[in-house]
Amino acid sequence: MRVVVLTGSGVSAESGVATFRDRDGIWSKYDYREVATPEGFAADPALVHGFYNARRRALQTVAPNAAHAALAKLEEELAARGGALTLITQNVDDLHERAGSKNLLHMHGELAKARCGACGDIYLCKDDLGVDSQCAACGQVGAMRQHVVWFGETPMFMDEIEDAVMAADLFVSIGTSGSVYPAAGFAAEAHSRGVPCTELNLEPSENAWAFSDARYGRAGEIVPQWVEELIAAL
Ligand code: OAD
Repeated sequence: MRVVVLTGSGVSAESGVATFRDRDGIWSKYDYREVATPEGFAADPALVHGFYNARRRALQTVAPNAAHAALAKLEEELAARGGALTLITQNVDDLHERAGSKNLLHMHGELAKARCGACGDIYLCKDDLGVDSQCAACGQVGAMRQHVVWFGETPMFMDEIEDAVMAADLFVSIGTSGSVYPAAGFAAEAHSRGVPCTELNLEPSENAWAFSDARYGRAGEIVPQWVEELIAAL
């Protein structure tokens, strides 16, 4: 069985990572045009660096929760039976990999990586970035940016995602409001191909119509339950 799972910030909420559009979400405190667009970075790079530096530092204070652990277990159980789990995440945190997920596509990039705008080199980044950061590869100063996707930029791994969704026997969306495309369109694409689609979220998402099965509750509770049921049925 080939399962494709798409996760959003709701899967990390119980770890203490903020979601975006909930009442106290990130976009209630920041204007996304200022901190998550190429135009915002050009206008005030120090502000944008500060926004991501704070989120990267905060990752050191959080840990994967039961939902992340259950998805890592599902990947192992499917692989042991000749199947596969492709985990697509919109999250820039590293909680899925810290829980043990391996076949993971960070379509919106990663807080744990930096990229040089001059030479394109990508490397692991634990420290703060700033306007005076220097690229270790080409030596350019001032061109370093977070390796994340901003609004107006193309998400990463779109070819791999397309292949995985086309080959899926089951598509599952977890902890995402379904308001940002192209991720929000994956369920509709799977649905139109006749693939069963399941939604696990705190509340119905904007794409709720595309899901033939839906469970609503906290990811830390409903994801492990759903994983155990799926494994038992394999
Ligand atoms: P949103 O904030 O839009 O949606 C989070 C979803 O998680 C909502 O539907 C909540 O109901 C749900 N949720 C909250 N707590 C939960 C919990 N404990 N268990 C289960 N579900 C819970 O965040 P995303 O859908 O991830 O992109 O946002 C998608 C993209 O928009 C992000 O990747 C980011 C943002 O702007 C960029 O920055 C490019």
